[in-house]
Parts: sequence; C-alpha cells; structure tokens
Amino acid sequence: MPDQTSFPYGAGFRSLTREILDPVELSVRGTLPTWLQGALLRTGPSKFEVGARTYNHWFDGLAMLHRFGFEQGRVSYANRFLGSKAFTAAEATGKITYAEFATDPCRSLFGRVAAMFDPKLTDNCNVNVVGLGGETVALTETTMPLRFSPAVLATLGVLDYEPPLTGQVSIAHPHYDAARERHYSYMVEFGLNSRYRLFSVADDGSQAEVAEIAVDRPAYMHSFAMTERYLVLVEFPLTVSALELKFSGKPFIRNYRWQPERGLKFHVVDKNGGAEMATARGEAVFAFHHVNAFEDKDGLVIDLIAYPDASIIDELYLARLRAGTPIDATGLLTRFRVKFGNNTAVIRETLSPVPLELPRINYEAHAGKPYRYVWGTGIQLSGDFLDSIVKIDAETGKVARWYAQGLYPGEPVFVHAPDAIAEDEGVLLSVVLDIANDRSFLLVLDAATLEEKARAEAPHAIPFHFHGNYFSQKTGKA
Ligand SMILES: [Fe+2]
Repeated sequence: MPDQTSFPYGAGFRSLTREILDPVELSVRGTLPTWLQGALLRTGPSKFEVGARTYNHWFDGLAMLHRFGFEQGRVSYANRFLGSKAFTAAEATGKITYAEFATDPCRSLFGRVAAMFDPKLTDNCNVNVVGLGGETVALTETTMPLRFSPAVLATLGVLDYEPPLTGQVSIAHPHYDAARERHYSYMVEFGLNSRYRLFSVADDGSQAEVAEIAVDRPAYMHSFAMTERYLVLVEFPLTVSALELKFSGKPFIRNYRWQPERGLKFHVVDKNGGAEMATARGEAVFAFHHVNAFEDKDGLVIDLIAYPDASIIDELYLARLRAGTPIDATGLLTRFRVKFGNNTAVIRETLSPVPLELPRINYEAHAGKPYRYVWGTGIQLSGDFLDSIVKIDAETGKVARWYAQGLYPGEPVFVHAPDAIAEDEGVLLSVVLDIANDRSFLLVLDAATLEEKARAEAPHAIPFHFHGNYFSQKTGKA
C-alpha cells in the first residue's frame, strides 16, 4: 500500500470508512450567522480499496455522503456511505463489480463478453448533490441519480429517467432555471448514431426532452452552460468512438482521445422549442467546469475554467496523487464570446492569471445572467495541490485569497444573506483538511472579504472531494 503520509496532504486521499449515523454536535470557534438554518450536503469518493484491489483514479472511489446541519448558530455532522449498487456489491463480494470512470471490474473472458451486453452502469454517485425534481439526489456521470433522505442520509433508490430520455452518460452539474422552475441537463446516447440529448426535469418531477443533437464522436463534457434563454454545449476535443467504448475492454475514460485539431464546438440551443440557434468553433481547450454564462447585445458570454489540454485527467490518477506528485496543469478563468450571425466567431479572453478550480457563483441571483464574482479553490502556498480559497472579480480582475499553512480547503459554496443586495453578500462554506490535526473542519468565511467568521471541527479527516450544496431549511432548495 502506498505511503500516504510522506507528503503533507496525504490524508486527503486516504479512505474514510467510519460512518457517524447519529449527528454529533461540533465545537464552533467564532460565530455563525444565525440565519444559516439548513444543511450543507456533500458527496465524494471515500473508499478506494475493495478486497485486494485499489481503484485507479480519484474519481472512482466509493461515495460517502456528508451532512453539516446548521441551527441557531450550532453545527452538527453526520456521514454515511451512499447505498449504491456499486457499494453494496463491493461490500458483499469484496470485489469491484461496477465499471467506474477509470477502473473496470475484474472479469474472466466470458465476463468481458457478457459485460459488453450488460454494461452495468455505475450508480456510485460521488460527484455532486442537488435538489432535482422534488428529490434530493446524489449524482455521478451516468444516468442513475440516487435519491436519498437529506435528514438521515439514507439511500432511497434511483431517480429513473423515462423514455425518450435514454442514454448511458450524463453529468453531475445540471442547471436550475428558477423562472421556469426546472433543471436542465444533458445525456449522451451511444450507438451507431450517437446523440446528445438535452432535457429538463421540472420541480414536480415531470421530464421533457428539449433537443437532440447528432454527433459522430461524443465529447467528454463534465458540465455545460446556461443563459436565461439558451443551453450551450461546449464540445471539448476529447472524444470517443461509441464502438471503441463498447468493445475495447478499456476503462471508460481511457477510450477518449485528445484531438486538438477538432477545436471547440459550441452548440447553442433555445430552451423554448429546442432549435439549435448557432454552432460556433474555437481553439481547443479542455474544461471540467463552466462558471456562468449570459446573453449580451452581441450574443453569448460563456465563462469556464480552461486548461490547455486534457492532461489534468491523467494527473488525478490515485497512485500519482498518493505519491504526492504535484499537479502541473492549471485551470484559468476564461471567457468566450459567441456572436450570432452568419459568420459565427468565438473570441477568447483569459480573465485572470490566477489558477482556479471548483468554481462557485451567487447562483440563485445570477445563474444565466450577468455577474461579477467567482469563488473557487486555488494554489497558493504549496504549489502542489489546491490549498486556498480565491475570489476573482471577473470585471476588474481583482483577486482576494484565504489560506494558511497546512490547511487544504475544498469547494467554497456561496450562501447569500437574507435580503442581500450586493452580489457577494453572504458566506462561503468550505470543508478544510487540517493536516496538523489530521481532521477536517467546516470553514465559514465572509464571502465579500474572505475573513473567517467561524470554523467547526469534524470528528475525522474527510477525504478531498468534489461538490455539494446548501439546502435552506426554509425552502429546502439548493
Ligand atoms: Fe464537477
């Protein structure tokens, strides 16, 4: 087993198997705003070993749910494995049974052939937690969101998509359109004629297809863009042949090829009617995360965290991370402008030279609309891994940071203050690994100034993970 303590942040990639089912009250240093009434729900990979095997990639680990509850200035904590089929089968058999992002189950030749016809899509939802169609769900990049109880973190079952919403791969970053009271997302149906399928899930649970886009080699897209009127798929040139995916026998992501000569392709689809309004092309970049997008008088503005290529995926293999290998690739806040018209052109501009990942905005007030502030994690002290919280003013480029030696913060979730007027009036909630104490704590920052308001120490070190959301007690909505 790799030595996980030979570099500072090794505990971030160590499995956590201890569950705390009955919430415990955390000791709080500082003062929490009393208006914070609800829960921060997060998911992430938490178990990387099954029997004698170890998952290959950070994105593969078995999902754990975490709940930080807020009431009258107090914080409680509970955590529980997601009761996915992938987890249940691994526990029952001691074997990796479902194919993950970069790990396949062990199979005999017969098993491999059988798997082609029964791909056993994983339901290991370790990427994000959202409110979807009236349910609280954990998501990964298959079409099997798992519903769970936000109060006790008990897994309830799959949120099924009904025909014509068929496909194998989807995303963990649906967008919410408050005016239309529905989420938008997309899935990919692989086949002889592969297609992207854009769809919506209304708050009452009803589902509808918005558009289908035929594609020869589907791209790997971890998120997409939404404005008030449009949905925008940005195809990065990391693409796959459906046939290879089915028959290669290689883990999912290893079938994708980086083909920079393809450049970027923007598909702009009208939410009303699903017509494709424009396609545009740009120079190749790769991204996991869109930040925001909006319409202006000339067309669309689309902001994302761009990498020069897709090598960041290779840098996140577990053995590499557990060896403490620094991450070289840096994502930068990058703006694309897509103009409508006959000569559709894309203009690209880097908004800040400061590396940023796991971006968040004041989503409730500014999703799909003009905005100014982006919060995320950055690289400040170590130069090796995400170790700070960064706020970038997308208008002026001004940057603020929060960091301290030995602390490794995760995604900062913005929660607006009641009756907030300013875009950045509220707090950030981030789970921080404190290596000296070998524990994590929940950090509460003033979102405007990045000054610390409070921290609440968790009972254990929580492995580095990806996303979550704050669910207000009043609305129940993320
Ligand atoms: Fe993500």
